[in-house]
Amino acid sequence: MSAVIEIEGLRKAFHSLRRGRRVAVDGFDLLVESGQIHGFLGPNGSGKTTTLRALLGLVRADAGRMTVLGRTSPEQLPQVAGRVGAIVESPQFFGNFTGHRTLRLLARAGGVPVARVDAVLEQVGLRDRGDERVKGYSLGMKQRLAVASALLKDPELLILDEPANGLDPAGIREMRDLMRSLAEAGVTVLVSSHILAEIQLICDHVTIISRGRRVAAGRVDEVLAGFDRHELLVRVDEPARAAELLTAAGLTVTGDGDHLVVGDVDDAATVSRTLGEAGLWVRELTPLRPDLESAFLELTGAPAHPAVPRQVDETVLPDQRDREPVIDLDAKGVDA
Ligand SMILES: Nc1ncnc2c1ncn2[C@@H]1O[C@H](COP(=O)(O)OP(=O)(O)O)[C@@H](O)[C@H]1O
Ligand SMILES: [Mg+2]
Repeated sequence: MSAVIEIEGLRKAFHSLRRGRRVAVDGFDLLVESGQIHGFLGPNGSGKTTTLRALLGLVRADAGRMTVLGRTSPEQLPQVAGRVGAIVESPQFFGNFTGHRTLRLLARAGGVPVARVDAVLEQVGLRDRGDERVKGYSLGMKQRLAVASALLKDPELLILDEPANGLDPAGIREMRDLMRSLAEAGVTVLVSSHILAEIQLICDHVTIISRGRRVAAGRVDEVLAGFDRHELLVRVDEPARAAELLTAAGLTVTGDGDHLVVGDVDDAATVSRTLGEAGLWVRELTPLRPDLESAFLELTGAPAHPAVPRQVDETVLPDQRDREPVIDLDAKGVDA
């Protein structure tokens, strides 16, 4: 496995007269290896777009070391630009041009054979709509056209910033299938999202960012395993008596109506044996697997008060809740 993207210690702060200094990326690390579909997951305002813009030389980093396909960024980016397709800022297309004409112009400008245009239109599912004007496209179709433009040069690395935004469920599914087929064809994909389910469904690796810092990284299943509290759902006829027996056996038991949740169990047999020896027969014994959603909430911080909506950027690691906030937000905490 070779590194396709390496980021170490990336920092970027924005300054404005009204709001002062705002740290968008705060010593962030990222490693994407060849062949991965790598999810870049984080809540709104956590620094994903800023990271990708810095990586692609669209904004100047304050500190950090970055490489793309083995070349340092931004200095040596031109050497590999032809092998990287990226959509980080939603491209603005000229509404009066058709999709086909738009791509033909981009192909010519990029020195790509015009024959690629039909291929990429097919690939993104716009084959039959390529002759319509872009202004008549839905948001989802414009997204597809953007992806098509990034695919023109047949890149080895594709970087997509929140490609699922604005798509309907069917569009999201197609985008997912498209990413899978690209990955099967050997393209490395880095895809950012604040939508957990998306990352869980498409990606094999994930890096989670919160307040400009990496809070978790690795194989999706391994990151999830780190959150496995080894809990079992137990259904049994006399839950109160069962709870007593299991507690006496040294297990942590919480009751929830007609079932129990037993924690810190390494072997489910401990539960069935303890209860069976007392003549209580287990009706159901199900491992409670963590999903990325709870892992993500645990990492990035759930709202402090359940009734108060969490604000943009209000994402704090549980063990950082009492520390000084990294990003000093005003009351609204919304982008300038
Ligand atoms: N050009 C900019 N000027 C000032 N602040 C910015 C700018 N771009 C991003 N930010 C701030 O940096 C933080 C991270 O933003 P961003 O990278 O867009 O997050 P994400 O893509 O994860 O939603 C936010 O607080 C945002 O308001
Ligand atoms: Mg963004």
